[in-house]
Amino acid sequence: MMRKHFTLLAAVPALMLGGCEIGTKVVEQQGPNGVAIADIKHKATMKVAAEVPAPPYELTPDMREGDRAKDVYENVQLLGDVSVDEFNYIMASITEWIAPADQYPETGGCNYCHNPENMASDEVYTKVVARKMLQMTRNINANWTPHFNNNYGQGSEGAGVTCWTCHRGNPVPANNWAAAGPGKKLGQNSPLIQTAYASLPYDSFSAYLAGKGPIRVIGKSAYPNQPSDASIVSTETTYGLMMHMSQGLGVNCTFCHNSQNFGKWDDSRAQRVNAWYGIRMVRDINNNYITALGDTWPANGEGPYGNRRGPEGDPLKVNCATCHNGINRPMGGAKMLKDYPALKAPHGMAIAAAAPAAEAMEEAETMEATPVAAVEAEKPAA
Ligand code: HEC
Ligand code: HEC
Ligand code: HEC
Ligand code: HEC
Repeated sequence: MMRKHFTLLAAVPALMLGGCEIGTKVVEQQGPNGVAIADIKHKATMKVAAEVPAPPYELTPDMREGDRAKDVYENVQLLGDVSVDEFNYIMASITEWIAPADQYPETGGCNYCHNPENMASDEVYTKVVARKMLQMTRNINANWTPHFNNNYGQGSEGAGVTCWTCHRGNPVPANNWAAAGPGKKLGQNSPLIQTAYASLPYDSFSAYLAGKGPIRVIGKSAYPNQPSDASIVSTETTYGLMMHMSQGLGVNCTFCHNSQNFGKWDDSRAQRVNAWYGIRMVRDINNNYITALGDTWPANGEGPYGNRRGPEGDPLKVNCATCHNGINRPMGGAKMLKDYPALKAPHGMAIAAAAPAAEAMEEAETMEATPVAAVEAEKPAA
């Protein structure tokens, strides 16, 4: 009798512990030797790369020849220099990426953006949005390469970004945010997914992913009389953003930082530099493309598909999770852009103003130890 109880008592904790730990693990070293932390991931629960849809058909080289879209259609402002075949191939793909007819039987398909009686008309607001998004995607792929420039050595040959990267078959990407507005709790103590359920200020996005608030908060000196001018609230807001970046990419803090000194660039991993450019890229996306569309976004009670704004009336914007969706390389690094050169502005076409990207690169040049230097240091020897 005694013995039976004993076995049972021993079995319970063993089962409880075992329950958390069954299955194959994958251990990866994150960070420099010596101070590195091992990232232990469960193979079974590791996010698998999302299904990336294949192009609608193969675009053979001869299909890129022939009449240009601008000579055949009436109102083509961006894609005029591609062939008619390539134009239709792009239309078929964006339909699958944004509003596939099989998933949205009532509203999806070409008519999600078009009046079928007049394809040239811009009367459906989604077509106007889609044109701006085309410009935005080109800007991302052409001007923000330092974000993608990582130690996989791929540079601009990397995965790149298409409409699918954010949309994944939905008219509104699943991961988005809008201003939270003045709350009663100074924007705190409302555990939200955006800050990985920490009760940190939940509107760090307005401050840092639309606004240009200073994210760095650590004092430059050990002495209390030479503090940084950051308040406790602003350090919490920084922490909220860091929680989001970790969760958005499915990584730990040490994926980017050396935990010995969170602020120092020289000791950080190259990925922190990708992230630094990523923050500035997201500001560019949110301010110069999404918010810039202004009244094009329907409010409550307007528009054919419902409300497209947050509680404060601003449109739904992008954060790290919009593209990354919990994985450090979106879609497991699948190279999707290579099938869509028009999303990178080929054929000598002018792309949208590159000013914000150029500004970020200038800022990087002037930093105490430049993020660029950290990337160079981590590049594998040729
Ligand atoms: C997500 C929105 C969207 C969807 C869905 C979409 N289109 Fe378009 N379409 C556009 C945009 C934006 C333009 C204008 C492109 C430009 O200005 O370069 C356009 C232009 C066109 C034009 C040129 C019309 C003219 O004379 O100016 C045709 C033809 C066309 N689309 C066909 C289609 C077909 C066929 C489908 C379905 C397979 C489709 N589109 C689905 C956004 C969309
Ligand atoms: C527009 C889509 C998009 C957004 C938004 C975005 N990223 Fe990325 N990011 C990518 C792509 C695509 C890659 C990698 C491509 C490849 O592997 O070739 C990448 C790579 C990275 C890497 C390098 C990953 C590695 O394994 O080396 C880091 C770090 C990163 N992003 C951080 C961020 C952070 C932080 C944010 C938010 C501030 C962010 N990204 C927002 C698309 C995006
Ligand atoms: C960096 C992420 C990102 C990329 C890349 C992106 N979009 Fe979007 N798109 C968004 C967000 C966020 C919204 C939602 C804004 C809102 O509803 O306020 C949106 C909304 C839209 C809408 C409006 C849908 C509706 O029902 O109101 C259309 C159409 C659209 N995008 C087309 C495109 C096309 C076409 C591409 C590729 C050329 C593209 N997008 C690339 C983030 C992105
Ligand atoms: C994807 C990369 C990435 C991850 C993951 C990340 N950080 Fe950061 N962190 C950065 C970048 C980039 C900056 C600097 C931002 C800037 O200057 O615009 C930064 C800044 C900071 C700062 C301010 C440093 C200073 O000089 O004042 C602290 C503190 C910090 N991070 C802590 C954390 C913590 C804690 C975590 C985990 C919860 C974390 N970070 C996760 C990239 C990352």
